[in-house]
Amino acid sequence: MPPTPSETARAYHAITKHQSDRYARSAGFMDWDSQPSPFRRFPGAALIKLPLGAPCTRLTFGQMARGEKPAPASQDPQGLAQIGRLLELGLGLTASKEFEGNRWILRANPSSGNLHPTEGYVILPEGSGHPAGVFHYAPQDHLLELRCSLDREGSNKLAALLPPGSFLVALSTIQWREAWKYGERAFRYCALDTGHAIGALEYSAACTGLHPVSVPGWSDTDLAGLLGLQREADFEELDPWEREGPDVLIAMTPAVNTDGESDILAIEISPGSLLQILAHGTWHGKANELSEVHHEWDVIHTTAAATERVATFPSALLPPRPAPFSALTWPLQDASLEQIIRGRRSAVSMRAGAKISLQAFTRMLDATLQREEFQPWRAWSEEPTVHLAIFVHRVEGLVPGLYFLERNSDHLEDLKGACRPDLLWDRHVAPSELGLPDLGLFLLRPGNSESVARAISCQQDIAADGVFSLGMVAKLAPLVDEDASKYRRLFWECGLIGQVLYIEAEAAGLRATGIGCFLDDMMHSLLGIQSDDWQVLYHFTVGVPIQDDRLQTSPPYAHLDRSKL
Ligand SMILES: Cc1cc2nc3c(=O)[nH]c(=O)nc-3n(C[C@H](O)[C@H](O)[C@H](O)COP(=O)(O)O)c2cc1C
Repeated sequence: MPPTPSETARAYHAITKHQSDRYARSAGFMDWDSQPSPFRRFPGAALIKLPLGAPCTRLTFGQMARGEKPAPASQDPQGLAQIGRLLELGLGLTASKEFEGNRWILRANPSSGNLHPTEGYVILPEGSGHPAGVFHYAPQDHLLELRCSLDREGSNKLAALLPPGSFLVALSTIQWREAWKYGERAFRYCALDTGHAIGALEYSAACTGLHPVSVPGWSDTDLAGLLGLQREADFEELDPWEREGPDVLIAMTPAVNTDGESDILAIEISPGSLLQILAHGTWHGKANELSEVHHEWDVIHTTAAATERVATFPSALLPPRPAPFSALTWPLQDASLEQIIRGRRSAVSMRAGAKISLQAFTRMLDATLQREEFQPWRAWSEEPTVHLAIFVHRVEGLVPGLYFLERNSDHLEDLKGACRPDLLWDRHVAPSELGLPDLGLFLLRPGNSESVARAISCQQDIAADGVFSLGMVAKLAPLVDEDASKYRRLFWECGLIGQVLYIEAEAAGLRATGIGCFLDDMMHSLLGIQSDDWQVLYHFTVGVPIQDDRLQTSPPYAHLDRSKL
């Protein structure tokens, strides 16, 4: 009997663990000759220049964090200015760095190894400056490539299918970009990157006066059809590694509708109706080649196929969520959200011995809870399934040690049962005079955990030098057995939590870094986890960054000369 999709996903997870004596399989060296281009293009597709630096809402970080509604940035939510802003601050370039003749580009969304497997698409009804159709986003030149154009009738039908002033955004993944460097573990990194990109788009939407909304009910085949990813003719000369896999579909709706309210939480768009409209569209362009040489990591293809979303989903029923905690304040709360997004970077090294306040720690963790109306969680319509095992190194008012933040109290008893019996599970409640929310934070074991955090994170100092670092513990086997596509979505949830921590750290005047390189089972044995009912999927660290003054930074789009396009 061939393995079931769930068995395939669980087996993939097991073989791609990093162990202290053996990392997950990869080429083991950097094969620069086969390095894939980080930029997909569709030569032959018509190009639409997106404006750079179009006006944003003046939303401050504090307003966003308190769930305040932004005023629309423009009266034309489907116009190029707003779409350009959304994509620039969500998936676009944010800086160009240079050191000793090497130059590299950073983007609004972080990515494991800065390899950027995530591609972005928009599906637009006709608006000012653009026709109706399906467009691929080319971040390097900040362009839309028109992949599928619609005639007048198709354009009218598309407009009728979407709520007024709304359009769709979709993400896809090119696994090869990460597999090139990381081999078999790359599938995990790609899915984490997708989660980060979802988060980046959610924050960017707030800057643009848009509310991201979940669009349930789309299978991967439907989404591939919408984005043209299954079109053999457009990918025919490419190695199969260079194909894109569909990920996620999100609707962007105006933050403030004509009644001054913005209460849409999920919209239903029938895949059949939208694909029917595209069946009469005209497709343009052929995908570019990213590498001349490829290495095989078959298990990635098998796992991608096993974790395809096949079933259509019932309407998103958002679980009840707590309201934002209004009494919290941030050091940079009066800075614009745009400034925080643009400034987000991964810390390469952190100041050992630095300390933060209990307030700052609480604010960052509080933001990871899926609070109602809190921007980064708007389009995430799923129940929390990921919890945080936190190495508190230096937080005033907390004894250093291993802590646990429950993000879904329904899981707590199960988790306690899965962990070693000698953990304390002492609930930590902040002194009432501080006016902080009760997070659901538990002390598991006091004591300095800097060296164990470093050892688990593949000996990376940032895990010990941060003020805290953490592992994201997900309910795995029971959910994957129910629906194997959940395997990818668990990583998305982790990536989204990571994006929240990146942005929160910036707003606190700190800096964060995602840690994909960690020793899975060393973390499991610390917690006493013995089965794959619960597994750690991602690590993260937050601390005081040490700036490297040797690096030169320049503006991201200095290379663009619009007149030449
Ligand atoms: C999923 C993921 C895993 C990562 N793992 C590591 C890691 O193990 N160590 C590290 O120093 N940085 C890690 N990073 C940070 C990336 O190297 C960083 O995002 C990338 O170089 C781009 O830089 P930026 O975040 O400043 O834009 C990770 C980032 C992501 C999104």
